[in-house]
Amino acid sequence: MSYDFDEIVPRLGTDCVKWDGFAPGTIPMWVADMDFKAAPAILQALQKRLDHGVFGYERLPREYFDAITGWFSRRHGWSFSQECIIPTTGVIAAYSASIKAMTSPGDKVILMTPVYNCFFPAVRNNRCVETDCSLVYHEGKYSIDFEDLERKASDPLAKVLLLCNPHNPVGRVWTRDELLRIAGICHRNGVFVISDEIHCELTRPGHGYIPYGTLPREYVLRSATCVSPTKPFNIAGIQIANVVAADPEVRRRIDRALNENECCDVNVFGPAALIAAYNRSEGWLDELREYLWDNYQYTLDFLRENIPGITVPPLEGTYLMWLDCRFAAPGGVPYDGFSSDLTAHLKDRHGVVLTAGTVYGKDGEGFLRLNIACPRKTLTEGLRRLAEGINLYINTHN
Ligand SMILES: Cc1ncc(COP(=O)(O)O)c(C=O)c1O
Repeated sequence: MSYDFDEIVPRLGTDCVKWDGFAPGTIPMWVADMDFKAAPAILQALQKRLDHGVFGYERLPREYFDAITGWFSRRHGWSFSQECIIPTTGVIAAYSASIKAMTSPGDKVILMTPVYNCFFPAVRNNRCVETDCSLVYHEGKYSIDFEDLERKASDPLAKVLLLCNPHNPVGRVWTRDELLRIAGICHRNGVFVISDEIHCELTRPGHGYIPYGTLPREYVLRSATCVSPTKPFNIAGIQIANVVAADPEVRRRIDRALNENECCDVNVFGPAALIAAYNRSEGWLDELREYLWDNYQYTLDFLRENIPGITVPPLEGTYLMWLDCRFAAPGGVPYDGFSSDLTAHLKDRHGVVLTAGTVYGKDGEGFLRLNIACPRKTLTEGLRRLAEGINLYINTHN
């Protein structure tokens, strides 16, 4: 490996959301950022921009758009023209404005739950109504209930499906077949698809993902995709993202909504970081994925040995493992509030922070989300505490 992902970079005391604000010595394995330094090319680009010393309003150079189209066509076989790109401050801003653009107050937005928690307020903030299409969890694997999706999509008030591809928190990378079925149902029923693809680079080594934008054109015209280098290159605090939309009228509406939400200007460091990420950090990303995959294998082995009752659906994408902890509930049946009780117990008594599954919707009861994007040493200690905490919980509650 050319990059040292084992390096421990102290983050405590830097006002970071992940580490600060807990009791001393706590290991955070919750919010989705990584404990690794960004790729050297990104650090150099940011340093260069910093050294200039003037941070006035900036326009986006041609190189910015070239970097995005170049990356997606080279890496993912997805070609689109530069006029399809609408820059903004973040993926949340991107999908929220896209919802606003494609709905009227009172319309319904379909979510495949359990799903990324910030999807819920985006629906409410646009005065829409959430319609859940629960994912099916069967024999340790997640899939889509297409009959239910068809039912929900056929409601005349259903106007948007907010898709998460790859899916946070269940770790699925949707296949072309699954995406085609989703697209067919939405198209038949006049439901516009917003695809959040922020985790798209973080698939298993050797396995890609299918961009929604590579589906047949009639489907793509009724969609908008939200992408960003922030998640895979660990620069979430830089805040930069893009909407890609093929239809000019859809773009006009999203552009208008971003303007109304006042989030169409990016900060001066965003473009520098994005260009360095997409143009000069591919090798770093490939090594990162190997490291994350090793962490995943290590975690699976550890859990099998030390918490034998736990089930983990296969992680196809993201660095977020979705732990089925229902076996640890009294009598094996989770009561309302079990996941949050268990996370409180792990945090307060064992100094390790995970996220309660119910943060991602009621279907998440009984589950915990574990972030494994940290140096192996941190992971090892975090897992030790997790096992100690869960086993003690079982002994005292069963
Ligand atoms: C699915 C998903 N979308 C969006 C975001 C946040 O995006 P941003 O920070 O660019 O607003 C996250 C962060 O965890 C995420 O998991």
